[in-house]
Amino acid sequence: MAEPRPGLVLLFQRRFLAARPLSSLPWPELEQSLRTAPGSALLADILHEHESTAAEPLDELYEALADVLKEEEGSTHCYKSYLLPSGDSVSLCESTALVCGGTTGLLTWEAALLLAQWALQHPGLFRGRTVLELGSGIGFTGIAICKTCQPRTFIFSDCHPRVLRQLGENIQLNGFTPEPDVAWSTQTEPQGQEVPGQNCQTPKVIVAELDWGSVTEKQLLALRADVVIAADVVYDPEIILALVGMLQKLSTSRAGRKAPEVFIASTIRNPDTHQLFQAELGKAGIRWQVIPAHSSCNFLYDVQPDVTILQLFI
Ligand SMILES: C[S@@+](CC[C@H](N)C(=O)[O-])C[C@H]1O[C@@H](n2cnc3c(N)ncnc32)[C@H](O)[C@@H]1O
Repeated sequence: MAEPRPGLVLLFQRRFLAARPLSSLPWPELEQSLRTAPGSALLADILHEHESTAAEPLDELYEALADVLKEEEGSTHCYKSYLLPSGDSVSLCESTALVCGGTTGLLTWEAALLLAQWALQHPGLFRGRTVLELGSGIGFTGIAICKTCQPRTFIFSDCHPRVLRQLGENIQLNGFTPEPDVAWSTQTEPQGQEVPGQNCQTPKVIVAELDWGSVTEKQLLALRADVVIAADVVYDPEIILALVGMLQKLSTSRAGRKAPEVFIASTIRNPDTHQLFQAELGKAGIRWQVIPAHSSCNFLYDVQPDVTILQLFI
């Protein structure tokens, strides 16, 4: 008897362990696969059981899963595991609420998933290089890159104290030791010899408190970033002005170095907000292009038209 398609079961497992919305799980395909090629007596029994009660097939199974995934009363956080195509996984402690403690930074957003999926398809961009992530939140994209793309140094950053604390804990949970209370703001010397393309099995990981509104050119220069990434940081007009101002500082604080390559993934919730971002980039003289999304790249998440990655030329 044929087994259900392994890819389908893996996709189901990945999305279930990452607590993705129930609607993103491949229910119709799974049901179809189980009906045409039932590989497990248990699952066949489940189907049979449901049909004999004249219930809609799998309805109760859907409900039981919904209960498991639903927020428990009183609990403010949960653990999610994101299985990467490399076989690695990223485990994170995340908030169960979209806004918690006055920040949106305590959970993983769709743009972070898209950015990680794209990064994992372009490991050469990160290998042996210093990567600065802006508004890292609790760290999914950066940890996925650290586990699979061999950057030389990965600098996670955010401005919110609670986010920075949770970020540090998540980084440790995944086997990396961030530099404690890194004095990056006073650091002006390069951290060792840079070897382009160097093979870095374990990257140096830094957690920096970096507020786009107050960071100085000198501080940005000290980071010596080759690549700058950010996910879901374009969602509020005030934030956009600070972000573009910081990108401008980044472009002027190069001291003869090549400008970093910049990639920003966003969910376009309000087209006006995104247009404001593009208009502000224009005013700052920063060109951009859309990175085309590949629908084949869907290990965690189906690419949606409202989630996009821009490459900025600073
Ligand atoms: C929507 S969350 C995105 C988190 C993560 N990148 C993701 O996509 O899952 C936005 C993040 O930007 C950070 N942020 C907002 N304004 C900031 C600023 N002025 N400086 C630095 N980080 C900021 C927030 O603290 C928060 O972690």
